[in-house]
Amino acid sequence: MRIIGTGSAYPKRTITNDDLSHMMETSDAWIRERTGICTRQVITDELLEDLAAEAAQKALDDAGIGARELDYIICSNVVSEYVTPSVASIVEGRIGADCPCVDLNAACTGFIYAIDFAEALLQTGRANHILVMAAEEPTRMVDWNDRSTCVLFGDGAGAMVVTRGEGLRAVKVSSKSNVDVLYYKRKLEPTPFVTKEEDHIPLSMAGQEVFRTAVTCAVSDLMDVLSEAGLDKDDITYYLLHQANFRILDYIRHRFGVEGSKLPMNVDKLGNTSSASIPMLLDELNREGKLKSGDLLAFSAFGAGFTSGACIIEWNK
Ligand code: UT7
Repeated sequence: MRIIGTGSAYPKRTITNDDLSHMMETSDAWIRERTGICTRQVITDELLEDLAAEAAQKALDDAGIGARELDYIICSNVVSEYVTPSVASIVEGRIGADCPCVDLNAACTGFIYAIDFAEALLQTGRANHILVMAAEEPTRMVDWNDRSTCVLFGDGAGAMVVTRGEGLRAVKVSSKSNVDVLYYKRKLEPTPFVTKEEDHIPLSMAGQEVFRTAVTCAVSDLMDVLSEAGLDKDDITYYLLHQANFRILDYIRHRFGVEGSKLPMNVDKLGNTSSASIPMLLDELNREGKLKSGDLLAFSAFGAGFTSGACIIEWNK
């Protein structure tokens, strides 16, 4: 795999911590101290597929290829207005592509899973150009009366176009089933045959357990991919970690022993955008001209499942 283009898009409405403090019992100080988040972009009258299509088109423009050259679209997504068809299929029509399309859901780890699937398609020769993307609207999953979850999230989409190449040095994905710690449960259509009581439960999270598991998984995943790639932690130019929360990222950084300049962050501006956070951050670095040929990037993410994953990829656009 080689990355040849990136793109991202987020909704226009900015919500500050002070805005939230007028809606519920919270404060800028509490949110900043516990999470590092200052603002987030939230969906209002946009549709998630609008953001996904915009990010995809920007990635194609950056790659300098047309949508018709895509052989596959893989989109990581947890929730969108359509349960079916997939976000990937909707994006296909919006950008004018004509290729197989699939969504995958591995929660906040979905982008790393999408990379793993894309690498397999490239290696077996099934595809030459793949749009690997993530589009998420977690602000539509939370209970806006639950201050312990709703302040954490923002919406957005990130995308990259990949082609065949030698960039992916190592990838690892895993899942250890633990439903209760982090889940969102929706009510399905009633039928004459289902008699049990069913609940709609907005995003529910055991915050401290998620915190501990996230740190442990990220450190061990990063160690494993470094070892598989035969690299030292200092060989990595940037660690692009799932932007869940500044404190989680800082814990990982300390446990892992790398300097702050190697850990770019945008969680302060965008909050936790689930699996879209890594491709959105990658696009930001690319657009700011911070990436040089030969830079080694480590991605690491964790989320509901409990899933986690990491990979190391050389930037050679
Ligand atoms: O993609 C993965 C997504 N998940 C995460 O990133 C979450 C990981 N977990 C965390 O980052 C932290 O657990 C949180 C930021 C969610 C919460 O921080 P905490 O230090 O674990 O706080 P807590 O849940 O133990 O709550 C401490 C207090 C409680 O009040 P009492 O019981 O001590 O009186 C909460 O009710 O803080 C209260 N609290 C709030 N206060 C003001 C909870 N949310 C808020 C809030 N504003 N928004």
